[in-house]
Amino acid sequence: MQQPNRFVALNSYVNGGPINETHFSLRQGSLPQLKQGQVLLKTLVLSVDPYMRGCMTGLDTYFLPQFQLGKPIMSLGVAQIVESQNGNYSPGDLVQGFIDWSDYSIWSGATLVPGVGTLQTVDPGIGKLSHALGVFGLNGLTAFFGILGVARPRAGETMVLSGAAGGVGILAGQIARILGVRVIGLAGSEPKRKVLVDQLGFEAALDYRSEKLADELRALAPHGPDIYFDNVGGSLSQIVMSVMRRPGRVVECGQISTYDEAGGGWKVDIRPIHANGLRWESFTTAHFNEFTPAAIGQLSHWVRTGKIIPLETEHRGLEATPRAMVGILRGDNIGKMVVTVAGIE
Ligand SMILES: NC(=O)c1ccc[n+]([C@@H]2O[C@H](COP(=O)([O-])OP(=O)(O)OC[C@H]3O[C@@H](n4cnc5c(N)ncnc54)[C@H](OP(=O)(O)O)[C@@H]3O)[C@@H](O)[C@H]2O)c1
Repeated sequence: MQQPNRFVALNSYVNGGPINETHFSLRQGSLPQLKQGQVLLKTLVLSVDPYMRGCMTGLDTYFLPQFQLGKPIMSLGVAQIVESQNGNYSPGDLVQGFIDWSDYSIWSGATLVPGVGTLQTVDPGIGKLSHALGVFGLNGLTAFFGILGVARPRAGETMVLSGAAGGVGILAGQIARILGVRVIGLAGSEPKRKVLVDQLGFEAALDYRSEKLADELRALAPHGPDIYFDNVGGSLSQIVMSVMRRPGRVVECGQISTYDEAGGGWKVDIRPIHANGLRWESFTTAHFNEFTPAAIGQLSHWVRTGKIIPLETEHRGLEATPRAMVGILRGDNIGKMVVTVAGIE
């Protein structure tokens, strides 16, 4: 018997220019009977992340496969197992992994990222389920490894952080602050900047659209910032890197300002890196996989003791996923962007 099932699909690829909600549609599908080895998942919470824009260009030059037009979009998410034909999973279990943007899906090991095929168990005592995707998931691990594994700051150093009010940014800034770093956040609106300083303890927050940004950075860091944690790239990063001095280091985390460019973006002008003798280092969480359990242990401790505040922007309902995706690329969110699809049964 086929079970009716709603899903969200991409209608057309967009190579250059912003995506909007008409590029997506909520469709009606159906699910077949489970086969041996498969599990039936009920989607609870979906993670919405900037990297997904790269799967919507139709170009085969991206480091992840493209979404298939008309088929369910896939992202990290938390789900509950409804039925299982797989001895490793039982009905009722909470799991996370790459799952479809649908009310229900059949998991049989297929995944967006090769090698990340398993569903990992989520501890029901986690607090908010969305934390498995945010502070204890991709965002938290990216912030943790970016600061402790790449920036490796010393107390008293000054760090400029772009995309500071986003999912990775709020956590990278708070971790650096815990380590005694002066954090200058760059964010696109006054309410965001207020949260960074008043709620999260950043030393300062600046408007990256200011024509005087370079002067404002020089005033706050007269000797040049020691670290630039870069979530944004493009012309903003050119300005920040132009005020840095040797031996300043740049942590290249992401290049979100370029993802809407024709060709998929990611091009970096290295002239200020060369001229100012900077060290420039990229990373992904995959480079630090062996340290994931220790990182989650430390992040849990910081959240429990109130040292890290894991802010989120939550949308509700499967039909809200396109709005959340469009919104993350234009700066609608403070903290982690998630969509709550359903509650635990
Ligand atoms: N290396 C890794 O393993 C890894 C893992 C996850 C994410 N990332 C990367 O890290 C970055 C942040 O990801 P996230 O999940 O935390 O997303 P996010 O920061 O929550 O959301 C994106 C934010 O970027 C800002 N932004 C968008 N366009 C911009 C532009 N043209 N110029 C300046 N700011 C812009 C917006 O805030 P404003 O309102 O302030 O403009 C928006 O809220 C992304 O580049 C992502 O690709 C890397």
